[in-house]
Amino acid sequence: MNLLVTGGAGFIGTNFVKYVMSHRPNWSVTVLDKLTYAGRRENLSDYEGSERYRFIKGDICDPVAVQGAMEGCSAVVNFAAETHVDRSIDDPASFVRTDVEGVRVLLEEFKKDDSRSVFLQISTDEVYGSVQNGRSSEEDTLDPRSPYSASKAGGELLAMSYFSTFGVPVVITRASNNYGPHQYPEKLVPLFITNAFEGEKLPLYGDGGNMRDWLFVTDHCSALVAAIEKGRPGRIYNIGDGQEMTNKEVTFAILEATGTDPSLVRFIEDRLGHDRRYAVDISRAREELNWKPDTDFQTGIALTVDWYRDNPQWWQSIKSGEFREYYKKMYSTRLENSERIQ
Ligand SMILES: NC(=O)c1ccc[n+]([C@@H]2O[C@H](COP(=O)([O-])OP(=O)(O)OC[C@H]3O[C@@H](n4cnc5c(N)ncnc54)[C@H](O)[C@@H]3O)[C@@H](O)[C@H]2O)c1
Repeated sequence: MNLLVTGGAGFIGTNFVKYVMSHRPNWSVTVLDKLTYAGRRENLSDYEGSERYRFIKGDICDPVAVQGAMEGCSAVVNFAAETHVDRSIDDPASFVRTDVEGVRVLLEEFKKDDSRSVFLQISTDEVYGSVQNGRSSEEDTLDPRSPYSASKAGGELLAMSYFSTFGVPVVITRASNNYGPHQYPEKLVPLFITNAFEGEKLPLYGDGGNMRDWLFVTDHCSALVAAIEKGRPGRIYNIGDGQEMTNKEVTFAILEATGTDPSLVRFIEDRLGHDRRYAVDISRAREELNWKPDTDFQTGIALTVDWYRDNPQWWQSIKSGEFREYYKKMYSTRLENSERIQ
């Protein structure tokens, strides 16, 4: 299997390439990544020079770059995306461009060679929108409510249309919130871990009661390999863990794992349109992909905290760059008007 992994220098892409390199010794990987603020080529520097690995800096919206990268590849895993909901509220255009148009460019190139085995589109449980009760199943109506989730829904609907219209072997996965090593520290878990290490405040949205189903990134990666090997073309698979926790509970787990005083937590003005709860039913992935998650939250968060503790140069260099401006814009007024935890 010669995989084209787009967005392989980002959080999940990096963990996925590492997983494949160690668990599938006969597979080779080409990474195509634009290296936006969220991508780090050095994440994969251990593989530079390996015959099984090739890195190409390029944009999935650029047909020439995509054609060159896809040559000789038998399968595509599309992680490349703009991914942060808060940034999508500020700049929806970049999300529509990469998360919808980029998918079209990839599909156009993919369909030129019908010997290719799978186009795996990495999607998200956020396409279901906020779920009050029960768990979303793959047949549920989509109700994306942020520019990010709407763009991801657009991307996967377009991919599925290439299955229906052209017979492209598209498989779609919808994963819940991931956490683990190498996540850019704008997202809740790495932001709070690194702020805790720096003695900075932990800005918690709203009342902290938003609920997510937390999935350790390595479990997501094993599900994706199973989807490549056993997924049925035209099929959608939810991937999650069933470890439902509120953001406040996650924050307290981080405080405990980092030995941080709760007085650093601040409740701040909520994100616009913040979905209250996501939860997915993963029975299809369990039955058809023969996959199950392996890492409970306590173990996963301890591994994650250890990784950030052992790799300060990785996140400190990020936090001293464009991140600083972003953080000020997002949080300085909100923190001035914030409330301490009671
Ligand atoms: N993080 C999560 O909790 C989560 C959950 C479910 C699904 N997903 C999906 O998984 C995928 C990866 O998410 P992540 O958290 O690793 O994201 P990330 O932001 O950490 O990484 C995205 C990567 O894509 C690259 N990229 C962005 N635009 C590009 C373009 N136009 N061309 C080529 N490369 C480009 C970036 O440089 C970066 O390396 C995304 O499709 C996301 O929607 C993420």
